[in-house]
Amino acid sequence: MNSLEENLREYFEWFHRHPELSYEEYGTTKRIREILEEAGVEILPCNLETGLVAIVRGEKEGPVQALRCDIDALPVREETNLSYASEFEGKMHACGHDFHITAGIGCAILLTKRKSELAGTVKIIFQPAEESSVGALKIMETDVMNGVERIWGLHADPTNETGYVGIREGYVAAAADRFLVTIAGMGCHGAHPDHGVDPIPAAAAMVQAFQTIITRNVDAFHPALLSVTRIEAGQTWNVIPETAELEGTVRTMNREDRALAERRMREIAQSTAQAYGATAQFQWFPGSPAVYNDGEMVNHAVRTAQKQKLQVVPEESSMGGDDFSFYEENIPGCYIKIGTGIGPTIHQPGFRVDERVLLPAVEFLTVLFTDK
Ligand code: NI
Repeated sequence: MNSLEENLREYFEWFHRHPELSYEEYGTTKRIREILEEAGVEILPCNLETGLVAIVRGEKEGPVQALRCDIDALPVREETNLSYASEFEGKMHACGHDFHITAGIGCAILLTKRKSELAGTVKIIFQPAEESSVGALKIMETDVMNGVERIWGLHADPTNETGYVGIREGYVAAAADRFLVTIAGMGCHGAHPDHGVDPIPAAAAMVQAFQTIITRNVDAFHPALLSVTRIEAGQTWNVIPETAELEGTVRTMNREDRALAERRMREIAQSTAQAYGATAQFQWFPGSPAVYNDGEMVNHAVRTAQKQKLQVVPEESSMGGDDFSFYEENIPGCYIKIGTGIGPTIHQPGFRVDERVLLPAVEFLTVLFTDK
């Protein structure tokens, strides 16, 4: 019989070879189910197209906790030369979710074996569609989160060697919101701008003015950024277009800054358009909120990591988002970064996970739940 470590490697390599995009994780879900069933882990019945939830009921009284493991891959062409590289053209586990799946499986198996030491219940959530930022909401539509008192999350970290874990209290990932501005002017001949209302100067002025929200309105000690990532107007060189569009993203950590950015953008869009004789429609599409690590959970994670002889380092914050934060709207959470060997950053074609991290990560996550 294989050791747990050998099994973990085999699972990990299988998931790496078979990456599936958001909401297409059918093969992944099937494989997770097979492994868990074979290992005698209980699966919680719930209405999910892709993704699934394992449950371990401890033999002692205690809280209901959850571990979130995201399972989807990215539309990235792999360039790692690994023997177990992606077999699906143009798709890759370039964000380490294959590692998260394997860690979740290992944790479910070990916790099931250690039920007698476990106080309370643990739900291990294999969540679909993290990369499209909405998979957490899919889980929350089911009753999986009913009764859950706190939630843990993990992420592969290619800025730290295996054996290091990043843990820190406070905000560790940003709220990721999208905006879209449509400026309406009046089209006319390129040689007679006086016959119409050109939306392009209004769009240009807006791009500049939006940045003053970050430099003039937000507290200088609060991380915040605004990126206009798409600007579109016109079809040809001698016609002034009817409309111009600006699209982009705002990233904030603090709730107040998030509301402030939306309000100021709306004001600037409307008043700038007006100043140029045009009109603007401003749309704000809220994404996932900022991820916040709860102090008490952080302390517990640090103690556990130290007992496991892992090196604890301060977790780096990211202006990237993670839909893990949706779970935290009602309960405390803690999102831990696990060093997977220094290398290309996540979402890059050369990203890889050092397989030596699998067993220690599984032990660490398991002890998080079995240790008081
Ligand atoms: Ni990720």
